[in-house]
Amino acid sequence: MLLSLLLTVGAASAFPQQRGGPGGHGGSGFGGHEGGQGQGGQVGAGFGPFQHPGPGDVRSPCPALNTLANYGLLPRSGKGITTENVTAAFAIGQNFAADTVTGAAAGALALCASETGENCTSWDLDMLDKPHAIEHDNSLSREDYNFGANNNTVFSPRIWGQVLRVWHGAPIIDFKLANAARLDRLNVANATDAPGWFVPAVAGGIHETAFYLSLFGDPIEGNARQDWIDVWFQQERMPFELGWTATQRQQITAAGLTAMSAKIEAAT
Ligand code: HEM
Ligand SMILES: *[C@@H]1O[C@H](CO)[C@@H](O)[C@H](O)[C@H]1NC(C)=O
Ligand SMILES: *[C@@H]1O[C@H](CO)[C@@H](O)[C@H](O)[C@H]1NC(C)=O
Ligand SMILES: *[C@@H]1O[C@H](CO)[C@@H](O)[C@H](O)[C@H]1NC(C)=O
Ligand SMILES: *[C@@H]1O[C@H](CO)[C@@H](O)[C@H](O)[C@H]1NC(C)=O
Repeated sequence: MLLSLLLTVGAASAFPQQRGGPGGHGGSGFGGHEGGQGQGGQVGAGFGPFQHPGPGDVRSPCPALNTLANYGLLPRSGKGITTENVTAAFAIGQNFAADTVTGAAAGALALCASETGENCTSWDLDMLDKPHAIEHDNSLSREDYNFGANNNTVFSPRIWGQVLRVWHGAPIIDFKLANAARLDRLNVANATDAPGWFVPAVAGGIHETAFYLSLFGDPIEGNARQDWIDVWFQQERMPFELGWTATQRQQITAAGLTAMSAKIEAAT
C-alpha cells in the first residue's frame, strides 16, 4: 500500500525501492561538533547558525534534510515540514531546482498519511525512518537495521568507514569512485544483513550518489571534493570553512541528476 502511494505521487522516480517492515525510530545527527556559524562567520544568505538538534527535535535518515534543519532553513524541530519549506530550503541552501525535490516531498506526505491515517499537509523528519519505505538498505552512512537499538537511521561511523576505505584517501570523488562505494555497500549489505532483511536499493542509491556529487562537485562532471562530502555526512553541516558555498556552481536540476545517474551507473 505504501508502495502504491509512493508510485502514485511519483516519489518512486526519486527514491525507488520498498517493502513493508518493522518500524524504525528517529535520531539526531552525529554529535561532537561545535555550534556557531562555521568558522569565519559568513555562511551564505538564508542560513542561520549551525546548531545540533536539541531535546525533542527530530531528524531523518537523510543527511540533506538534517543539515538544512541544523541551520534553520528547515524547522529546527524537524517537525511540521511542508513542501514549500523543502523547495525553499533546498533552493536557498543548496541551489537545487524545485523539480529535484517535489517528488520526494510528495512521497514524504504520502508516507505521513500512511503512518498517521490522516491527510497530511506537513510531516516530521523522523517519519522517514520507516524501513523499506523511502528509507532503504545499502545506505552509504547508515546501518540497514539494528533490531532493538532503533538507531539505524543515524550516521554510523562503521558504515561510512566502508565508503572511506573504498575511496582510499582520494581527494576528488569521480563517477568511478562514487559508483565503487555504492556497489561495495550493496555487496556488503547483501552479504551481512540479517537473513531475509536485505532489499537492494539500486536506483535510490544511484540517485543519492548523483545528489552528493552535484552538491559537492560539478553538476555535469561530478568530481566532488571528498573533504566536503565527509564533513557533510559525518556532521550534517555544510563545509563552509573548507570553502564551500551554495552558489559556486550552476543550479542543480532533475534533468541534470538523471543525466548524471546514467554516468554513475556506467562508471565501473
Ligand atoms: C523532500 C526531499 C527529500 C526527502 C524526503 C529525502 C529522504 C531521504 C531518505 C528517507 C533517505 C534515506 C535513504 C537511506 O535509507 O539511506 C535519504 C538519503 C539520502 N538523501 Fe535525501 N531526501 C530528500 C532530498 C534530498 C536532497 C535534495 C538531497 C541532495 C543532496 C538528498 C541527499 C541524500 C543522500 C546523499 C542520501 C543517502 C544517505 C546514505 O546513503 O547514507 N536528499 N533521503
Ligand atoms: C514552513 O512553511 C510554512 C507554510 O508552508 C511557513 O508558515 C513556515 O514559516 C515555514 N518554515 C520555515 C522554517 O521555512
Ligand atoms: C487531502 O488534502 C488535500 C489538500 O488539501 C485535498 O485536496 C484532498 O481533497 C484531501 N483529501 C481528503 C481525503 O480529505
Ligand atoms: C546502535 O546501537 C547499537 C547497540 O547499542 C550500537 O552497537 C551501535 O554502535 C549503534 N549504532 C549507531 C550508528 O549509533
Ligand atoms: C546478493 O547475493 C546473492 C547470493 O550471493 C546473489 O545471488 C544476488 O545477486 C545478490 N544481490 C545483489 C543485489 O547483489
